Amino acid sequence: MKKARLDASHCLLLCMGEKCRKKNRKLKQELADALAREGLGDHVALHETACMHRCDNKANIALYPPGTVYGKAGKKSLEKILRDVTARAAE
Ligand code: FES
Repeated sequence: MKKARLDASHCLLLCMGEKCRKKNRKLKQELADALAREGLGDHVALHETACMHRCDNKANIALYPPGTVYGKAGKKSLEKILRDVTARAAE
């Protein structure tokens, strides 16, 4: 089992419920690679979560804090998520 990061200031939760799982599995690795490339790997932990009960907007990814949910996540969403994470990490 992979250890949870306890020193990260932010967390990205990727829904792995039935409707989001397929897309988010692909996005998780892309997010991890992008975070590492941007030097944000120590600031943001990636976690998988159960259904967020927003299945119509599959695939869902949430950023905590502040609790922003990115619905219909895809490659374009990753750019927005990275921008938001970068801005929050700089605070
Ligand atoms: S399966 Fe992702 S919100 Fe329900």
